[in-house]
Amino acid sequence: MRNKISIIGAGFVGATAAHWCAVKELGDVVLVDIVDGMPQGKALDLLEAGPIEGYDLHIVGTNNYADTAGSDIIVITAGLPRQPGMTREDLVGVNAKIVRDVIESVMLHSPNAIMILVTNPLDTMLYLAKKVTGWPRERVIGQAGVLDSARMRAFMAMELDVSVENTHAFVMGGHGDEMVPLARYSTVAGIPITQLLPPDRVEAIIDRTRKGGGEIVSLLKKGSAFFAPSAATMQMVEAILKDRKMILPCSVYLEGEYGLNDICFGVPVKLGRSGVEQIIEVDLTDDERSAMERSAALVRSSMAALTI
Ligand SMILES: NC(=O)c1ccc[n+]([C@@H]2O[C@H](COP(=O)([O-])OP(=O)(O)OC[C@H]3O[C@@H](n4cnc5c(N)ncnc54)[C@H](O)[C@@H]3O)[C@@H](O)[C@H]2O)c1
Repeated sequence: MRNKISIIGAGFVGATAAHWCAVKELGDVVLVDIVDGMPQGKALDLLEAGPIEGYDLHIVGTNNYADTAGSDIIVITAGLPRQPGMTREDLVGVNAKIVRDVIESVMLHSPNAIMILVTNPLDTMLYLAKKVTGWPRERVIGQAGVLDSARMRAFMAMELDVSVENTHAFVMGGHGDEMVPLARYSTVAGIPITQLLPPDRVEAIIDRTRKGGGEIVSLLKKGSAFFAPSAATMQMVEAILKDRKMILPCSVYLEGEYGLNDICFGVPVKLGRSGVEQIIEVDLTDDERSAMERSAALVRSSMAALTI
């Protein structure tokens, strides 16, 4: 039996996620969108790449949630991306309605799935998903930190002219411009970057990481990043389906961890076959804790616009 992965929203992030899913042979893919014919066309196109790439998977596109029945994983990318000049938080009204509709449909057909949210504003949409599903927090997870850490790793590797494989980055907090990249815990070959670079270069990496999404939005001029966001999402899917026990920064519903309650927020977690298997708490300095509080305040201000 192959795993079944349903991806809701067959736009840039969703379709590219389906592509990574196929090349990594993570399981059969169901691509869902409200636009008639578009998910069917993209799924057929991806299926037809199978003979070249050598994957034997069922890949279908649909507008009907019945086709998602019995999914192991549901990835939600449906919703508007931001445009130049917009913050992620500006999307809350329009995307809350879309995400609620999607969740109410998928949960009927796959009550035991693990749900991964991608739609922005990420932590707020995850909070909505947690409340609407009523599922345990272990099975409702948000993708943001894997992407933000990958961006930081890319910038570290460029700065030090080393392999990306030597890098490890630690980005916590909400998926907004107040995210919390922790230089002290970000390393190259195990050495903290604070020992490898002068403070101004470390600060430049942190600043570029925080603004990483906006940098791409302003270059594209229409829509937002999708290669790295979808790759990050599929790393989470892979960690879960292969029960890898990988420690990755993900958004989860907090119940007192890091002094935060009733909020979805990015923290390091262990991902395995049952979803979030552990939330890891690390020591923070006073400055780092203040940065977490500023980030939480931004998430809470966007949550205030939700009606649940
Ligand atoms: N969490 C992250 O790190 C991260 C990174 C990048 C993008 N995003 C977010 O992901 C979302 C998708 O981005 P994108 O670039 O793929 O946008 P996109 O516009 O290319 O795709 C969104 C798709 O959602 C579909 N859709 C809209 N309403 C729907 C509904 N009710 N049911 C099913 N499908 C519906 C649209 O038809 C469209 O195809 C955006 O909210 C974006 O901000 C998050």
